[in-house]
Amino acid sequence: MSEPTDSDAIQAAAEAIRAGELVVIPTETVYGLAADATNADAVRRIFAAKGRPADNPCIVHVASKEQAKQVAEVWPESAECLAATFWPGPLTIVLPKADHIPTVTTGGKPTVAVRMPDHPLALAVLAACGVPLAIPSANRFTELSPTRVEHVPQAIREAAAIVLDGGPCRVGLESTVVDLTADPARILRPGGIGRFAIEGVLGAAVEIGGTERRAPGMYEKHYAPAAKLVLVDRLPNGLPGLALESAGEGQIAMPQDPVAYAAQLYDALHRLDQTGVEAIFVERPPATPEWEAVHDRLAKAASGG
Ligand code: TXA
Ligand code: MG
Repeated sequence: MSEPTDSDAIQAAAEAIRAGELVVIPTETVYGLAADATNADAVRRIFAAKGRPADNPCIVHVASKEQAKQVAEVWPESAECLAATFWPGPLTIVLPKADHIPTVTTGGKPTVAVRMPDHPLALAVLAACGVPLAIPSANRFTELSPTRVEHVPQAIREAAAIVLDGGPCRVGLESTVVDLTADPARILRPGGIGRFAIEGVLGAAVEIGGTERRAPGMYEKHYAPAAKLVLVDRLPNGLPGLALESAGEGQIAMPQDPVAYAAQLYDALHRLDQTGVEAIFVERPPATPEWEAVHDRLAKAASGG
């Protein structure tokens, strides 16, 4: 069990952020590496710590809808409806950026991705520091995102002034990213909020996936364990339901419910990966829409491995 994080730790994290330092923060999706989104030098340190290309933009996290309106240049009715329905929560909205958000934060783009996370510690730090936070996942570029504080790699810990432990992340996959600067709106990265839920709120169909405006979550080899990930229809001697297996390390039985599966996927991959195996075999989940985000991450982890 992790120690409950007290208000002193929250204040210390907020002070470090205001001083331009980095802090590892839990969110409901994955752990992130946070910096003041309005401080270009601080955000550059995030890119250095992650080994992340400068054109790969960070999501700007906010404490409220009001703060989101200050980060974006415009706040259309579609953003208002999505935020009212899904915030705080795993939905990221792309809009034209406000002038005071440095282009370092947005990877040189004229747009900004913004979300209000649904995690008490993240919200407490956001409230205490009073600035919007650039928070990419707290992993090295192309590696697996951390869903427990123990998954955060040493290189990221060393770059951070403070590491906050919030226990395991509830959602376990990164947020859905929806681009409202496209018409129709486009889902750039599937995640915790499904396309039908978004379409229901917008009252219109959305498009899915990449155009020439490729988002960095759409890079081919991404979210990958060090081991080669191989998707199979069924494991020989597979446990009932879905399972993950690495040679010599046995199987991990996975939930058959997509939400519960997503919450456990990265932890299972981290556990098998840490044993140093060469390959991890994963039973392919059903080809139905509720599994879209899981399929996306499995396909990316399997490509180029
Ligand atoms: O759940 C999450 O979103 C986590 C937690 C920490 O909040 N964060 C996260 O950030 O996954 P990161 O940096 O690992 O992924 C950022 C993704 C990119 O892959 C890209 O799809 C999108 O956000 N993104 C950011 N800014 C964008 C922009 N201006 N235009 C298009 N996509 C953008
Ligand atoms: Mg990431």
